[in-house]
Amino acid sequence: MASSHLLSTHDLNREDITSILDDAAAILPAHANLRNVEQSLAGRNIVLAFLEPSTRTRLSFETAAQRLGASTVLFQATGSSVEKGETLRESLRTIESMGFDAVVLRHGQNGVHREVASWSRMAVINAGEGTMQHPTQALLDAATIRERFGTIDGVKVAIVGDLRHSRVARSTADVLQKCGAEIGYCAPDALVPTDSQFANAQRLASIEACCSWADVVYLLRIQRERLAADVHIDEQAYRASYALTTAVAEAHPTIVVLHPGPVNIGVELDAAILDHSSCLVHRQVTQGVAVRMAVLQRLLHS
Ligand code: NCD
Repeated sequence: MASSHLLSTHDLNREDITSILDDAAAILPAHANLRNVEQSLAGRNIVLAFLEPSTRTRLSFETAAQRLGASTVLFQATGSSVEKGETLRESLRTIESMGFDAVVLRHGQNGVHREVASWSRMAVINAGEGTMQHPTQALLDAATIRERFGTIDGVKVAIVGDLRHSRVARSTADVLQKCGAEIGYCAPDALVPTDSQFANAQRLASIEACCSWADVVYLLRIQRERLAADVHIDEQAYRASYALTTAVAEAHPTIVVLHPGPVNIGVELDAAILDHSSCLVHRQVTQGVAVRMAVLQRLLHS
């Protein structure tokens, strides 16, 4: 990672990814036990600019920064000058003038992060960008898979659900493919990606087909806030072909389950599956803090 920003998985090669995952693995035991974490970012100031809803990503970055001794401030659209019509650029320049070292930025528009990085003195860390990028999610997914299988090379991952609108699917598929995983995908026609990113991945017909082919099923939420008004997804029909129901999971007891959250229980996943030992949804969250600590340390520790 040559740059002082983390904008896209496309800027990372396999060595960069391995090195971040190695750092995260070294940090994980101390952070998971909440002790002996080196305060390597003491005195550093990070603004968390979340201009789209978020729970786990925001809390994860905040936790990661604070465990390294950095101080964090939250900036959200609601209750801020954004509501009074201030542009993002002016808001961020104002924040920059207060002396922040880094901005962790979530924004619904593709391209905003790179634009901010082109003029800002702050390190820009992408915490979610439109439908295109979510690099730290991809890295935490890779860390979770590597921990479980001991490698990413040759692991078969089927991504199921709303790939068309998913920055997670795009970023995670990119990182996993660079590390040697095989990617399949499965979605109804209305939610199949239309860009070229999945051109080399195989399309699977149903959740059954995914569980038979893959080592990991990676479930996605239907992102209703991004669906065009004329697209209607019938939840019952969706469940029949694409949901990991208790019955499907019982037929494939060793299948490893990932999901970036938030989970729509009863739509793409049945509640009981969250308690299975092969469901790593909560492990992803734990790995997320370690991966974000590794990323922040790399960009901000001098
Ligand atoms: C995702 C996101 O916001 O991109 N969630 C997350 O960051 N863990 C996925 C989603 O919203 O469905």
